[in-house]
Amino acid sequence: MASVSVDRVWKYYGSTAAVKELALEVADGEFVAVLGPSGCGKSSTLRMLAGLEHISAGEIRFGSKRVNDLPPRDRDIAMVFENYALYPHKTVFDNMANPLKLRGVERSVIEDRVKKAAAILEIGHLLERRPGELSGGQKQRTAIGRAIVREPALFLFDEPIAHLDAKLRAHMRGELKLMQRKLGTTMIYVTHDQMEALSMADRIAVMNDGVLQQVGTPQQIYNHPVNAWVAGFVGEPPINFLDGHLAEVGGRLHFTHGSFQLPLMPEQEEIVRSGYRGDKVRMGVRPDQVTITTEPRSGAFQGRILVTEPIGGDMLVDVSLGGDKVLVKTSPDFEGAMDQPCYLTLDRGRWHLFGNDDGVALF
Ligand SMILES: Nc1ncnc2c1ncn2[C@@H]1O[C@H](COP(=O)(O)OP(=O)(O)OP(=O)(O)O)[C@@H](O)[C@H]1O
Ligand SMILES: [Mg+2]
Repeated sequence: MASVSVDRVWKYYGSTAAVKELALEVADGEFVAVLGPSGCGKSSTLRMLAGLEHISAGEIRFGSKRVNDLPPRDRDIAMVFENYALYPHKTVFDNMANPLKLRGVERSVIEDRVKKAAAILEIGHLLERRPGELSGGQKQRTAIGRAIVREPALFLFDEPIAHLDAKLRAHMRGELKLMQRKLGTTMIYVTHDQMEALSMADRIAVMNDGVLQQVGTPQQIYNHPVNAWVAGFVGEPPINFLDGHLAEVGGRLHFTHGSFQLPLMPEQEEIVRSGYRGDKVRMGVRPDQVTITTEPRSGAFQGRILVTEPIGGDMLVDVSLGGDKVLVKTSPDFEGAMDQPCYLTLDRGRWHLFGNDDGVALF
């Protein structure tokens, strides 16, 4: 088992910085997802942890041991990549056994570990097959099995299920999470898929353009994003942003938009008064934190329905609000129709304000 410290780590390729002063602590046995868009530096980070990529500056420690200059084979890690490269002529058993054979582990121990891993991954019945005779998900499980049998201190997974179809991916999410919990092995899991990160990880490290934006539990990341970028990246359908400004109305601060004024709650007002100097702000509210009705309600803002989209158990409604578009997620029973007026109320305390210049969250 291992805890991991990433201490102000930089990665340069030539003069381009791919990872900028990354600081991240991963506890022993924890499942941390590194989440961010393509090119943000996720794989570079993982490859530095694995020892496959030189660390330009900073320090990486496993436990209290500095590993910067330790070769990959001495790091007690197992990696799984999206391109899992099984040996086509070896059976599933031999593919999984291979890393142990290379280390000269005893045959009986190998058999025992492969069978245990195969049982966890439910591929015990496939051990004599070759990769050509497996489905994508079964191949993936074989590659993961090959990582498990090593009984490493640390798993490093880089988009291991990215190329599977949506249904299988959803299935594998649950299986991988369960596997990691059963084994208790520390996991650092790279993905650009927020659903994977939100559903599997104990904590998520969100990166953008080489810079760590926020580290927190899935709940913290979703409910308390530290800036507008994180708020916009995490959440599906995405959060709505409305630009406006702060104005005092009757002694109370309001978020003021072209079509409505929204009073801040006292605690929100205190945060803004003590910490914000501008008056332009960006408001953010998630589609499921807006209530929509076809009848007027006190305190509701009037908009106009642009289109309704039933999506199985939910309904998405595009609303025009003072020239902006707001997406609302509601129940499929919603009876509004195109071009009709509608009324929106925001869930108390469930909306956000961001600074206009830097996008930093005020609340
Ligand atoms: N060997 C390399 N030489 C030069 N630049 C590189 C190299 N590897 C990665 N980069 C650059 O570093 C940045 C980060 O790349 P990285 O592979 O870490 O991103 P990523 O977050 O894993 O992206 P993806 O989701 O597409 O896999 C990118 O701009 C990429 O072009
Ligand atoms: Mg990558």
